[in-house]
Amino acid sequence: MLVLGIESSCDETAAGVVGPDGLLSDVTYTQEIHARFGGVVPEWASRAHAERISATVREALEQAGIERPDAVAATAGPGLIGAVLVGFSFAKAAALAWDVPFVGINHLEGHLLSPTLEDPSLELPFLALVVSGGHTSLYRADAVGSYRTVAQTVDDAAGEAFDKVARLLRLGYPGGPIIDRLARQGNPKAIRLPRPKATELNMSFSGLKTAVRSYVEAHPDVHPPDLAASFQEAVVDVLCDRVLRAARREGLERVAVSGGVAANGRLRERLLALPLEVHIPSFRFCTDNGAMIAHAGRQRLLLGERHGLDLRARSVWPLDAA
Ligand code: KG4
Ligand code: ZN
Repeated sequence: MLVLGIESSCDETAAGVVGPDGLLSDVTYTQEIHARFGGVVPEWASRAHAERISATVREALEQAGIERPDAVAATAGPGLIGAVLVGFSFAKAAALAWDVPFVGINHLEGHLLSPTLEDPSLELPFLALVVSGGHTSLYRADAVGSYRTVAQTVDDAAGEAFDKVARLLRLGYPGGPIIDRLARQGNPKAIRLPRPKATELNMSFSGLKTAVRSYVEAHPDVHPPDLAASFQEAVVDVLCDRVLRAARREGLERVAVSGGVAANGRLRERLLALPLEVHIPSFRFCTDNGAMIAHAGRQRLLLGERHGLDLRARSVWPLDAA
């Protein structure tokens, strides 16, 4: 079964095709207009998706060498609702025109299963760390469709903290990749920042962002690479600590990491050094992409799932809710 996947929940217009032998195509158009503002502007995102969706899907089909897929999957949420609706409605219309099955996918499930796209030998159950701009959660993933939240951030997502700190330092948007690069020239031990604790395994990143702001106010001549490296190290310390403790508590050896922040060089290095079996996708499958939606959709379709065209998009949609 060849599945077309469409993603438009934030600022990437993306489409990919996945078949029995894996990935056939993957086309991602990252909207540049938001950089000017320093964050995603929802209305601009919806408009840019609408302008780009048709060409993106056409290119994904062309690259895969097919005229039409056997089924269509699309992100149905969570995300910016106007943005989600562009790809979601396009996908429904395409499924109707082609007369093929349609399935709506939770964006977080797309991320969660993405490590299994490149590595089919990676089997569930595993502990999943989904760490992106909108979400930072640990799940126990027992089977496709069976996920339980083990821990999550009580305030900002880790990617959001990267973006906010970058904005504070006037480094540009999105902040994650910029801080990642800058931190390589800095000393992670230069500045002492807190490792905020929430209850039990939960995480908190907003106090860390405030600590960075206070530090910059008190030390306007700070060496930015040192601050970037120290901030990044604090985020990585928290994530690694929770992964290790959650894996032990859940009795899971295997860990699958996904989401935009999983592209972070230092996080990857530190996670791979943990005494666990850690899987992280290649960089291009960490940030939002259509291939992960096609892949998750294909898993669901193989289980016999299909959705009617009356399925609704959702701005909020916890992964362990039905
Ligand atoms: O998964 P994603 O593309 O979109 C969401 O679902 O949120 O994640 C985007 C987030 C942004 O906050 C971005 O700054 C962060 O991932 N990010 C990174 C890196 N690349 C992207 N954070 C840290 N280091 C990176 N290399
Ligand atoms: Zn995402």
